[in-house]
Amino acid sequence: MTTSLVPTKRTPSIRNHRGSYWITTFGCQMNKADSERMSGILQTMGYQLAEEELKADLILYNTCTIRDNAEQKVYSYLGRQARRKKTDPNLKIVIAGCLAQQEGETLLRRVPEIDLVMGPQHANRLETLLNQVDNGHQVLATDEQHIYEDIATARRESAICGWVNIIYGCNERCTYCVVPSVRGKEQSRTPQAIKHEIEELARIGYKEITLLGQNIDAYGRDFKTFEYNKCRKLTLSYLLEYIHNIEGIERIRFATSHPRYFTKELIDVCAKLPKVCEHFHIPFQSGSNKVLKNMGRGYTVQSYKEIINYIKQKMPDASITSDAIVAFPGETKDQFEETLSLIDDVKFDLVNTAAYSPRPNTPAASWPNQLPEKVKIDRLREINHLVEKTAKERNLRYSNSSQEILVENINSKDSSQLMGRTRTNRLTFFPRSSSNGKSHQPGDIVNVIINEIRPFSLTGSFS
Ligand code: SAH
Ligand code: SF4
Ligand code: F3S
Repeated sequence: MTTSLVPTKRTPSIRNHRGSYWITTFGCQMNKADSERMSGILQTMGYQLAEEELKADLILYNTCTIRDNAEQKVYSYLGRQARRKKTDPNLKIVIAGCLAQQEGETLLRRVPEIDLVMGPQHANRLETLLNQVDNGHQVLATDEQHIYEDIATARRESAICGWVNIIYGCNERCTYCVVPSVRGKEQSRTPQAIKHEIEELARIGYKEITLLGQNIDAYGRDFKTFEYNKCRKLTLSYLLEYIHNIEGIERIRFATSHPRYFTKELIDVCAKLPKVCEHFHIPFQSGSNKVLKNMGRGYTVQSYKEIINYIKQKMPDASITSDAIVAFPGETKDQFEETLSLIDDVKFDLVNTAAYSPRPNTPAASWPNQLPEKVKIDRLREINHLVEKTAKERNLRYSNSSQEILVENINSKDSSQLMGRTRTNRLTFFPRSSSNGKSHQPGDIVNVIINEIRPFSLTGSFS
C-alpha cells in the first residue's frame, strides 16, 4: 500500500471524456522536468492542454518550498482555484511537488477542495493516483517511494533541449535546506535507462541535454551492489563518457554540482569530451569559512577556489555560475563582505542570490541568531548590485568574438530574431537569416559575432 485514501462523501466521477488540464510549475529544473513527465502522463490518459488556466478541468500545481515566498505564492494561486471549485464541482485540483510533500495531510485539511496531494517521488504514478480520485477519493501520496522508471513519454517544453534526471533526492544535510526532507534519499537511475532516454531524445531531434540532480556529483553512490561498481566506480565522470557518443546530441550539460564532491577527474573528463559544454554551476553559498561550517557544507573557501582555478586552468573560457545565501543566521557584516570578495575574486558569470529564509524542519530555522528583515534586504541589494556588475564585466570577453549558438526558438519579444545559447550558457539573440539569405531553424548550430552586451544576455549578427 503506497497511498492513503481519505474517506469522503464524493460521488465517483462518471465522465468518461477526460477534459482539459493546466500545469503551473514553481521552483527548480527538477520540478520542471517532473512537470514535463506528468504532462506526458495526462496526455496519454486522454487529457488535452487547456487554452487557459481558468478554463481547465484539471489544475496541477507543481509546487516549491525552498523559501517562504515560494510557499506563499502557491497558496495565493490555490485560493483562486478553491473558489472556482465552489461553482464548478467537477474541477480537479492536484497539488504536487515539494510543498505538497512538506504539508501532506495538513494541506488537505487546510484546503478541502484539493483532490490529490502528491510528493515529488510520486510524479510517475500520476495516472494511478488520478484513477483513485475518479473513484471518489481524496488522495494523499507522500510516503517514501522507490521512484519508478519513466514509463510515460514526457511532454517537453522545448523540442531542442531536454532535461534528463540522473539522480533524485539528496543525502546532504545543509542546515538551511528543506530539499532532503521533501525529495527524500538519493536514488540514481541506471546508466542504461539514462542512455536509453537520451537516445530516444536524439531520435526525435533533440540536440542538447542537461543531466539533472540536486547533488549531481553524488551520482552512483547509492549503487553499492550495482554490477558496474564491481569493475569500475560508477560516477558522473563515468556516466558522461558512457553517454557521450550518442549520435545527434551536440551538447551535454549537467547541474547542480556540489563543491564538496566535485573532483579533478570530472574536470579532466569535461575538458576532454567535446560535447560537454564549458559551463559549471557550483553553488558556494557563502564566502566565509565560519558560515560555511554553520551551514554544514563540508568545504572551505580555499578548497572551493582550488576547484575553480583548476577549471580555469583546463578551460580558460569556461563560465562559472553559482548560488549564494545572504543574512544566514549569525552572519556578521565582515562575513557578508567575505562573500562579496569571493564574487569579486572569482568573477562569476552569474550568481543566483537569496536572503536566508527559515524553513520547517531545518536546524538553522530554530537558531536564536536570526537576522532582521532590514539586514536581509540591504545585503541582498548590495550583493545583487555586485553580481550584475561582475556579470557585465565577464560578458565583455564576448565582445566581437564569434560564438557557436544552438538555435532554440524565435525570440518571443521580437519575431525577427532567434534565440539560443552559447556553449557557456549565455542567452543570445540574433537575426533569423544569415547575410547570404539562409534562414535558420531551431536545432541549427550557427556562428554569430557578438556586438551587443548586457549583464545577462547578448546580441549577435552574422557579419
Ligand atoms: N542542491 C543545490 C541547491 C538546491 S536549492 C546545492 O547544494 O547548492 C537552490 C538554492 O536555493 C540553493 O543553492 C540556495 O542558495 C538556495 N536556498 C536553499 N535553501 C534556502 C533557504 N532556506 N533560504 C534561502 N535560500 C535557500
Ligand atoms: Fe539542499 Fe544541501 Fe542538498 Fe543542495 S546539497 S539540495 S543545499 S541539502
Ligand atoms: Fe523548490 Fe523542490 Fe526544487 S523545494 S527548488 S522545487 S527541489
